[in-house]
Amino acid sequence: MSLVRRPPASTLDLSRRPRRLRRTESLRGLVRETRLHAGMFVYPLFVRDGRASEISSMPGVRRLPVDLLVEEARAARLDGVVAVLLFGIPSSKDAQGTAADDPEGAVQRAVRALKAEVPDLVVMTDVCLCEYTSHGHCGLIEDDVIVNDPTVERLVSVALSHARAGADIVAPSDMMDGRVGAIRGGLDAAGFTEVAIMSYAAKYCSAFYGPFRDAAGSAPASGDRRSHQMDPANADEALREVELDLEEGADIVMVKPALPYLDVLYRVKSTFGAPTAAYHVSGEYALLKAAAGHGWIDEPRAMLETLLAIRRAGADLIVTYYARDAARAIG
Ligand code: PBG
Repeated sequence: MSLVRRPPASTLDLSRRPRRLRRTESLRGLVRETRLHAGMFVYPLFVRDGRASEISSMPGVRRLPVDLLVEEARAARLDGVVAVLLFGIPSSKDAQGTAADDPEGAVQRAVRALKAEVPDLVVMTDVCLCEYTSHGHCGLIEDDVIVNDPTVERLVSVALSHARAGADIVAPSDMMDGRVGAIRGGLDAAGFTEVAIMSYAAKYCSAFYGPFRDAAGSAPASGDRRSHQMDPANADEALREVELDLEEGADIVMVKPALPYLDVLYRVKSTFGAPTAAYHVSGEYALLKAAAGHGWIDEPRAMLETLLAIRRAGADLIVTYYARDAARAIG
């Protein structure tokens, strides 16, 4: 017996016609459930000393010195983007990631310049050691192990250096245990009670960070990040990670990457109702760019559909290299 039983034509019920509301753009707009707005985008920027340079695996994204970074941020602000997320590329790296909390580091100088020159921009900073360590790991290493607690101490110091420079939001991306609480404590003790924390709460050990690691030269020299980033197979664990970060004082929690983890994003938003960010990461961006480069997809449509899907799944904020393009496209 067929599972699908076709009714005879005479009994087709045409009193229900969902297509009625799809006839014109105005009708579709009236019943549209989800919208993107420029105010939800966070624009990641790479800052370093020296000249601007292209990143071959991320077409359209460049590493920028502070003066050009300020120009780029100003242009983004004019497009309607309200927030940037800074990543630093130091001129020298060592085992401790000493450059990460240098008050004269590229990120710290960029924060000061942005706060002075584009005052209504929200300035966020990525807090991690992997861009600064010679071995490319997110923490300090002892006997081949990334040691949690000494790393957390370094991260507090990095976050404080960003707060002193004027960052509005610090964003720890390292996935060490207890770092959100430690950073909150450090910020409060130093009087930075108004500096918020956006924690990369459910950050997966993903292949989609490849182009970012080209950009930041932060691929681990040996080994991988499986001892701290999450196993892609786990979703319940993401809820536990998010709960811990919220208890420790995170103001915004992030799921990363975005598209392969929309189920996680949906559950995080519906379980906690906290301000929730999703990071549409470098590899996700590169996939779209590569297909568009071949003429295989309509890039503006694919971009907006992707961002809309992330929004629909529950993201309040979307970190995306497309922030300027998307802000311009939605006007
Ligand atoms: C630093 C960091 C990474 C990304 C954001 N912060 C790289 C990593 O964890 O290896 C990835 C962002 C992207 O791929 O766009 N820890």
